[in-house]
Formats: sequence, structure tokens, C-alpha cells
Amino acid sequence: MLKSITVVTLAVLAFATASTRAQPQSDIPTILADIRAKDTGQLAVSEEDGKFLRLLIASTKRKHALEIGGASGYSAIWMGQAMRETGGKLVTIEYDPVRSKELAGNIKRAGLADIVQVIAGDAFVEIPKIPGTFDFVFLDAWKRDYKRFLDLVYPRLDKGGLFTAHNVVNKRTEMGDFLDAIQRNPALWTAIVSPSGEGISLSYKK
Ligand SMILES: C[S@@+](CC[C@H](N)C(=O)[O-])C[C@H]1O[C@@H](n2cnc3c(N)ncnc32)[C@H](O)[C@@H]1O
Repeated sequence: MLKSITVVTLAVLAFATASTRAQPQSDIPTILADIRAKDTGQLAVSEEDGKFLRLLIASTKRKHALEIGGASGYSAIWMGQAMRETGGKLVTIEYDPVRSKELAGNIKRAGLADIVQVIAGDAFVEIPKIPGTFDFVFLDAWKRDYKRFLDLVYPRLDKGGLFTAHNVVNKRTEMGDFLDAIQRNPALWTAIVSPSGEGISLSYKK
């Protein structure tokens, strides 16, 4: 009798400990708030833009996503939640060594390591090594490089794919060549939305 009570007690304790350990991994709002609190350089997208990206990916059922400029994982966590819904995968690339470690750690804490692959390195070097094509791209690296990234990724964007880019309103003067390219390309339908004033371009490949 005593033995079976002890076994039950141990089982309950083990379950309680496991639940306590598991909780922070799925506490995405807390993880997102932590990232924002430490983001002294204000690199992360706004919460509104994060929600917009999540909704866009989930509602258009994207499966093969690429993020260029992952920083510490704020936008990747928003997009990773959508990829969990669609059954897809996101690859995010970050070349700053401190941020890429934070990015990998935050993705793991968010319970998204099976969905979001973190690549530490220069996206200009790493993208050609990634196999396959993309049906969704989110570009959020340094703004002067946007046109070069468009040229690099465009041939790998599926027909029906969406190429999106951040800060196209508040930093538009730093990316004139990119904005011209997405608006003049006859094979793209481009629109700009601005959920929080920073601006996101959406270019659909016909
Ligand atoms: C604006 S932040 C990205 C913020 C992130 N998307 C978010 O919302 O959390 C831009 C990031 O792009 C990274 N970056 C810039 N050029 C890069 C490149 N060529 N390869 C990889 N990362 C790059 C920077 O180190 C920086 O962390």
C-alpha cells in the first residue's frame, strides 16, 4: 500500500516538474516581450507588423519561407507560429554572432526549433547553399542591400510566391533602387502596407 502511494506521489511530482519546465517554452508572449525589452538597438519589427506577418503567412498557407536578417528572433517567432499552422518551415539568417546565438536560443525557448532553422552567417553566402525555392520571403537586413537581395532571391521565388520587405515607408530613402525594381517589374504585383508606420512591401510573383 505504502509502496503504491509512493509511486503515485512520485508520478505526480514528476508530472508537476515536467509541466513547470515545459511552461516557459510555450510562453511566447513572455519570450517576445523579453526580446523587445533587450532590443536597445530597436531592430525588431513592431508588434503590429509581427501580427501582420503571422496572419499573412497563415492565411495564404505559405510552406517554404525565408527571412533575411533574423536579429534576435522577434519576427521569426511571429512567422514561426504561422508556419506551425501551415505545416511549413522557415529558414532565418543572421550574421551577427551574438544575435544569431540569441536567435537560436529564443527559437528553442519558443518551442519552434522543429519549424524554424537558424543559419548563422552572411545571407549573401548562405542563401545559395539552401536547397529548393521559396513561397515567402521576408527581407529585413540592412536597407542599402535590399536590391542585391531581391536580385539574388527573385529567381528562387516560386510563381505565386510573395516577396516582402520591411521599413519600406520609414526608411524608403535608403532603398530607392529596390522600390523602383519591385514597382516596375511587370511580373510582380506590388502593394505597400503600413500596419505601424514602418511599412511592408508585398510583391506577388505572377
Ligand atoms: C532590422 S534587424 C532584423 C530584425 C528582425 N527581423 C526582427 O524583427 O526581429 C537587421 C538584421 O539583419 C542582419 N543582417 C544585415 N545584413 C545581413 C547579411 N548580409 N546576412 C545576415 N544578416 C544580416 C543584422 O545583423 C541585423 O541583426
